Amino acid sequence: MENKNIVLCVCGGIAAYKSVELLRLLVKQGARVKVIMTQSAKKFIAPLTFEVISGHSVYSDLFETGQNASIKHIDWADKADAVVVAPATANIIGKMANGIADDAMSTFILAAKAPFLLAPSMNTFMYESIPVQRNLDTLENDGIIIMEPDAGELACGTSGPGRLPEPEHIAGRLKSLLTPKDLKGQTVLVTAGPTQEYIDPVRFISNPSSGKMGFAIAKAAEQRGAQVILITGPVHLPDPHGILTLKVKTAKEMGETLFEHMTHSNIIIKTAAVSDYTPLDKSEQKIKKIKSEMLLPLKKNMDILKKIGAQKKDQILIGFAAETEQLEKHATGKLIKKNLDMIVGNIVGTESSGFQSNTNEVTFFYKDGTKEPFESMEKEAVAHILLDRIIEKYL
Ligand code: CTP
Repeated sequence: MENKNIVLCVCGGIAAYKSVELLRLLVKQGARVKVIMTQSAKKFIAPLTFEVISGHSVYSDLFETGQNASIKHIDWADKADAVVVAPATANIIGKMANGIADDAMSTFILAAKAPFLLAPSMNTFMYESIPVQRNLDTLENDGIIIMEPDAGELACGTSGPGRLPEPEHIAGRLKSLLTPKDLKGQTVLVTAGPTQEYIDPVRFISNPSSGKMGFAIAKAAEQRGAQVILITGPVHLPDPHGILTLKVKTAKEMGETLFEHMTHSNIIIKTAAVSDYTPLDKSEQKIKKIKSEMLLPLKKNMDILKKIGAQKKDQILIGFAAETEQLEKHATGKLIKKNLDMIVGNIVGTESSGFQSNTNEVTFFYKDGTKEPFESMEKEAVAHILLDRIIEKYL
């Protein structure tokens, strides 16, 4: 998003308040955003709100006077890297589908050649009406990306599809729109999060993996055009849009699900923190605290990554190694033992790196014996660099 010129078109719907948050997210990610509002949008939100956050004046009057005023719609259209219409009302959808240009926004839209993202939001009956659906089909055929509205309780009292998707989802789709599709045609399988090994119905052995690294890789791969399968242990993260997300609990379930999907995946990235051991027997009932000491017999879980490494044919296999000491020795040991193409090593237990953190300080170790250390950075950035290296070295 850094330095991208985005034009945010805000139409007159109750969801216009969410566009303020969308603008804030885009600006935070480094985009230069300019806002166009319809006259009706101004009845819902004051333009000043958008002006303060974007740092630019809002454009809404085709006939405004002043310097360069008359050609603003052409100037902005020329410079835009992407256009997002959110919320998109039935009115603007109708105008766009039929090439009508009768105000500042529709005139700009007709002149803009950049990729478009449209997020419709309106009453369910309006959204499902024949003309709106026909117009959306036309726009889709014209190459415009249309987001499905969320379903739920609407401001007008009805319930059904029509809600504007959350700003994070719109920002994510926009990012995807701007990202080169260098993983098109690839199927990427990612595992994420911890596993839980049940001792009895209410207790389990696990670890504090948050799943953030694996989810970041899955989202980055999806943005870059890959088909993505995400197999995740229990985490507190929302399901990423557009990604087949399969939820498992135990290491056994993770292994079974992975082997089901392994053959049609050509890049496998195992960020999951799999429990190495599981209780020998799971108690059917809750264990009572009768004894003053208790021993819990454990048995080894299957090493999923090692098994994939032994079976793999043309697949690219990436592992993760979270260590507390001797990173290089342990990570490269796993790289060789598990027949990996690459392993991402990091020291866990510090605030800026590891399980719960939003950042990670990693070193990439390659199968040719070379390594590449990185400074601490956002997990999202680690994800993109990892995919860059996979493409450069192995595709
Ligand atoms: N892994 C796996 N199955 C297991 C254990 C680990 O697939 N039963 C994978 C992890 O997903 C990770 C890599 O192996 O990509 C390294 O995991 P890690 O826990 O660091 O290493 P282990 O092989 O379990 O070795 P140790 O716990 O002794 O360090």
